[in-house]
Parts: sequence; structure tokens; C-alpha cells
Amino acid sequence: MDKMVVKGGNQLNGVTTASGAKNSTLPLIFASLLADGEHVFHNVPNLADVTSASALLQSLGCEVTYKDHTLRIFMKPLKTFEASYDIVRKMRASILVLGPLMARFHQAKVSLPGGCAIGTRPIDLHLEGMKAMGAQMDVENGYVLGSVKKLQGAKILFESPTVGGTENIMMAATLAEGETIIENAAKEPEIVDLANYLNKMGAKVEGAGSSIIKIKGVERLRAAEHDVIPDRIEAGTLLIAGAITGGEVTVQKCEPADLDALTAKMKESGFKISQDKSSVTVHKCKEWKGVDITTSPHPGFPTDLQAQVMALMTQAQGTSVFTETVFENRFMHVQELVRLNADITPKTRVAVVRGGPGKLQGAPVMATDLRASACLVLAGLVAQDETTVNRIYHLDRGYEDMEGKLTKLGAKVRRIE
Ligand code: UD1
Repeated sequence: MDKMVVKGGNQLNGVTTASGAKNSTLPLIFASLLADGEHVFHNVPNLADVTSASALLQSLGCEVTYKDHTLRIFMKPLKTFEASYDIVRKMRASILVLGPLMARFHQAKVSLPGGCAIGTRPIDLHLEGMKAMGAQMDVENGYVLGSVKKLQGAKILFESPTVGGTENIMMAATLAEGETIIENAAKEPEIVDLANYLNKMGAKVEGAGSSIIKIKGVERLRAAEHDVIPDRIEAGTLLIAGAITGGEVTVQKCEPADLDALTAKMKESGFKISQDKSSVTVHKCKEWKGVDITTSPHPGFPTDLQAQVMALMTQAQGTSVFTETVFENRFMHVQELVRLNADITPKTRVAVVRGGPGKLQGAPVMATDLRASACLVLAGLVAQDETTVNRIYHLDRGYEDMEGKLTKLGAKVRRIE
């Protein structure tokens, strides 16, 4: 298993570029199940999760090619409607095949995703939504079995805004009979990107990005072409990489508005941030202060940046209180940061970070999930000596060429087998 070795102490400076958004690409890949023909996606990041999603479509009978960040999916008559455990266990987002399969083929067999390092992550809201649309949904032998004559439009109120649930129901509703209204919908930019693609395919989706999404079902959709939006979490991680080393880093080809929750907190902490239409710069900063972070659904502070900002706050003057409200168990990085000599007290959903510049010491640590891996690499950038991050495959699920991007900015990172 690959490891990443980070030698701390180098200041990062320069310009880097955000890749396409992982969390947009995955639902877009599954949306292609909604129409025959060739779906073309540009700005697709080269990631293990994109490979897994492509493998899932191939297992269903589609042709998929990937070259120069363009993914072409040729949707043909499917040979099966089953997403097997072997593929779903690698990537929870595979559950997003459910809505498209039920909408277009009226049946689906999808392995239950199971737990993961950041909590139990149930799919009950996805299933309730499908049932409200008239589907029979059963769970047998670890698989979700769905069948329906034709999905019916329905009013679906999510108890809490679920990103995947909103995407699944939105896709399902595009080919349902009549109108579907999703209330308390998730508002993430990736939901808007998916809605834009669905509308290019001929769907009638309104209100994506707000808490009420209305979808009028149509008879059929057609394949289309689309540019994936920039990855706001990767862009944020790269900004933090500059910030934690006190350097000046510009992330170009990003959407500054999608980084507002992060940049507001960085400014509160003492960083100077400037931006133009498609880039954000963090300027050199010698000293910053602790800030409190509470994660919440968009437009709140993203849970996917909580771990990385915690690394940043280990170097702050004073205390930061982190409250994780989205996932029940998303402090797996805390014990690893403590191995690097960080002073953090974790409670159930709250972690108190007593910061102080220069305290971190290099050590071997273990990546437990995607964003935790990023957090440990960031911490390694400022730790004394070397930090070896084990199980770096987690990072490859969601960050394209992280070591290449960091190296170009001046970091000393290398991957070893
Ligand atoms: C997506 C993102 C992930 C991000 C998360 C929250 C993708 C591929 N992944 O994950 O990176 O961290 O949004 O921003 O886009 N829940 C239920 N029942 C359900 C569904 C969700 O209780 O049926 C709960 C979850 O356990 C969690 C919360 O709702 O506590 C939010 O989950 P959700 O928004 O669904 O996250 P994902 O779509 O899995």
C-alpha cells in the first residue's frame, strides 16, 4: 500500500489549479443511465472514485472511455440492473444508480453501502423517497431490491437535507409521471451542476440550489455534453496548504463563491484573502488566531473541509472549538493529529484544539478516510522532520495528483510503495 512522506518546514508559494469536482462527477456519471447515446463530460478529475463509478457502469453494460479529462459514456441496452457488493463497498456514492435505474428500467438491485469510517451513513431517506414515488423497496440479503411499474411524482420532505438523497430523487423524478417536489432539499453546488446536466438532457428541473426543487417528469431524455464544475473541497484544501505554511498560494479555475464559508473563517482567523472571477489567493501570514467551526449543510461550513481546517488551527494562537453536526464520527483524524503532538481534546461531536505554531512533530500516521488523509498531509507540511501518511489510497479517491500540485508549490512530498 502506498504511503506519502511529507518533510515539513517548506513554505508553499505560487499558483495551482483546481480539478473538476469529484462530488459532481459521480452523480453525473450515474445520470447517464437516464438516456441512451453518448454522454460527454469534460473537466473530469482523474480519481479512484471516478474509476470505480465507471467500472460500475461498465458492469451494467455501458462503454466508458477516459482521456485528457474527458469521460465518454456510451449508454447501451443494459445487461443487468444489479450493482454488486464488490463495487458498492469501494464507493458509497454507488447508491446513486438507484434513482436512474428505477426511473428508466423500473427495477434495481443495489448492494447496501454499509458503514464507513465517518459513521453509519444510512440510506433510509433515499428509500423513503422512492417509496413515496410508488416503488416497492425491500432489503434482502444485504441488497436493496426495487421495482415499480412507473414512478409517480410525489411531494417528498426530507427530514434533514441529504446530498445523495436529493440527487437520487431528482434523477428518479425526471422520468416519473407528473410533478415531484423535494422539500428541505440539499443546496450544494454539486446539486445545481447535476440539475443543469439533467436539464441539458431535456429534463424539467427547477429550484436546484434552493431548499425546494420541482421536477416535472418527461417521457424521455437524451444524452448531452457538460463541463464539470471545479472541486471546491480540493480548492479549499490547496488554499489551506498555502495558509498553514504561511505562504501565498493562488488557486485558479475555481468558483470563489463556493468557498465563501471557508474564506470567511480564514479571514476571521487573520488571513488576507483576495479573489477574482475564478481564482482565490491566500496571502502570506505569520500569525493567525483560533476560530470556532461548526459544520452544517451548504451554505454552512462544509464537513468535507473540517479536518483540513483543524490542521490549520493546530498552528493558530489560542483555542478553536470544532463542532461536527453532519456526521456522527468524523474526528478520526484527531488521534492522528495528536500523534503529531497536536493538543486536541475530542468529545463526541466537539473537538477543542489548543493551537500554537511550530508544535507539530513528524511521525507515522494512518489515513482513515479521504478528508482525514488530506488533513494529515497538511499537518505534515508544518511538522518538524518527516511525517509518513499510511494508507494514502484514501487520498487518491478524491484528490488528483495531490503530491504533484504540492510539489510545484514548493512542498517536499514523495510517495513510496
Ligand atoms: C455527500 C458527499 C460527501 C459529503 C456529504 C455531506 C458525495 C459523493 N458525497 O455525501 O462528500 O461529506 O455529502 O456534505 O457527494 N443521512 C441519513 N439518511 C439518508 C441519507 C443521509 O440519515 O438516507 C444522513 C447521513 O448519515 C449524514 C447526513 O444525513 O449524517 C448527510 O448525509 P448526505 O448529505 O446524504 O451525504 P452523502 O450524500 O452520503
